[in-house]
Parts: sequence; structure tokens; C-alpha cells
Amino acid sequence: MESIEGAVVVVTGGAQGIGFATCEEVLARGGKVSILDLSEEKGLEALSNLCKSFDAERVLFLACDVSRRESVVKALEETRYHFGRLDVLVNNAGIGSGTPEMVMEVNFHSVVSGSEYGWEMRTRTNGPSVIINVASTAGLVPLEQAPIYTASKHAVVGYSRAIARKAKKDSVTVHCMCPAFTDTGLVRKLKDQLRKSTLEKVGIQEPSVVAEGIVRLMTTEEPLLVACTPENPFKVLNRNKPKL
Ligand SMILES: NC(=O)c1ccc[n+]([C@@H]2O[C@H](COP(=O)([O-])OP(=O)(O)OC[C@H]3O[C@@H](n4cnc5c(N)ncnc54)[C@H](O)[C@@H]3O)[C@@H](O)[C@H]2O)c1
Repeated sequence: MESIEGAVVVVTGGAQGIGFATCEEVLARGGKVSILDLSEEKGLEALSNLCKSFDAERVLFLACDVSRRESVVKALEETRYHFGRLDVLVNNAGIGSGTPEMVMEVNFHSVVSGSEYGWEMRTRTNGPSVIINVASTAGLVPLEQAPIYTASKHAVVGYSRAIARKAKKDSVTVHCMCPAFTDTGLVRKLKDQLRKSTLEKVGIQEPSVVAEGIVRLMTTEEPLLVACTPENPFKVLNRNKPKL
């Protein structure tokens, strides 16, 4: 994709945190956003906040549970119907804790549903040409305080790496973004657990920094695996042998 101007971008989990910051960045560059979020309350709040700074016609909110494939499919089709096109899908929604089944469903299975359906839409008609899967640096190195979260994010990294070459043949660029600790609700919930150990050592970054990297990926042709950390906000990793 050449430019964000006029592009239609779906952001799952776009009501808060990194997803919300991504929506702001897309809108600031002249794009349109469809926010898919489980929380209707937070989604409507995000919609109203964005409409204070940007043209309301460029923002859509759809209630969606990414852990349910049919909910994702419906929201992607509704977005395309509403805006008449769909250019980018950011599979960003995620949770930091819960039962192993919940964490895998929300963090990993949702990425598979979104990527598969987005890819299928692209081969059928005018689906997204860019898919960005949000993993974590915990998808590259283990976070001992959160083993299931770590497993879910390793799965996102592995899946994104595995499909990138084949998807590219169908004109779909699949990127994977791995943020380090970012100051959002997700990490605030874990803070007590993390404060004494990892967090104070490695630092924490603003969601807008991660959002900038995600938006940069939207216009990058080659599929990339990128880490966003306080030391380097856009560190491109070797997709065959990823190392932080
Ligand atoms: N914050 C961090 O330190 C950090 C670091 C690395 C990766 N990440 C990843 O970034 C992504 C965004 O996280 P964040 O930190 O902005 O979290 P956040 O909690 O601020 O936002 C997550 C959003 O996802 C939504 N959501 C949760 N479950 C959902 C579901 N089933 N269907 C639809 N929406 C759902 C929430 O309502 C919320 O709006 C996640 O995938 C997370 O794992 C976060």
C-alpha cells in the first residue's frame, strides 16, 4: 500500500491502549478506521473521543468478540460494506491474563481467524492487502511471570512467520509487531506482579510509539517481523532466526 490517505484500516481491540493510539495515528494521516472491540462502552467512548478531533465519517465502531470467528467475519464484511473497501487489518486485541483457553482464544485463535478471513477476502474480491499481527517481545523471549501469555505470543510470531511468504504470493503482506512493555490497561493490571522485577529494569514506552511502528508497517511492502522497545522503536528482526 502506498499511502495511508484514504485507506480503510480495521483495528481489533481499538478502543483502548495500542489499538486506540493506532486509530489516532491512521486518522491523523488521512485514513479511515473501523474499531472492533469487545467492550461496547469503551468502543463508544473511543468513537466519541476520536470524533472530537477527526471527521466522524472516517470512524466506525463495531462491537466484536475476536475469539469468535463468526463475529470477526461479520465485522470485516460490515466494514467493507460501510466504507466500500478494506485495505489493512490490524489483529491487535489481546488479554494479559485469564484461563489458558481464554488467553489462547483471544490472543492467538483470533489472529488466525482474522488473518485467514482477511486473506480469503483478498483473493476473492477487494480484501486487505496488509495484515499486521500484534504479538509481543514475550513472543520472542519468555516472560516468566506470564507463561500462557508467552505461549500465546510465541504462537502469533510463529504463525505470522509461517504464512508470510505464501500470503505475499496472493498480494497480502503479513507483518508481525512485537512491542515491549507499553503503558496501557493491560500492563497496568499486571504491574504489581511485574514492578519489582522486569518492568523497572526494562522500562515502559508510550502506546503512540508502538502505533507509529504499526502505521509504518502499513506502507512497507516486504513482510517484516519488528520489535518495538524503549531502545529501538522499530527494530527489524531476521524472520528466519529472530533475536531481540
Ligand atoms: N501493553 C503492553 O505492554 C503490551 C506489550 C506487548 C504486546 N502487547 C499486545 O498489544 C495488544 C494491545 O494491548 P494493549 O496493551 O493496548 O491492551 P489494552 O487492554 O489497553 O487494550 C486491549 C483492547 O482489546 C480489547 N479486547 C479484549 N478482548 C477482546 C475480544 N475478545 N474481542 C475484541 N476486543 C477485545 C479490550 O476491550 C481493549 O480495548 C495486545 O495484543 C497485547 O498483548 C501489549
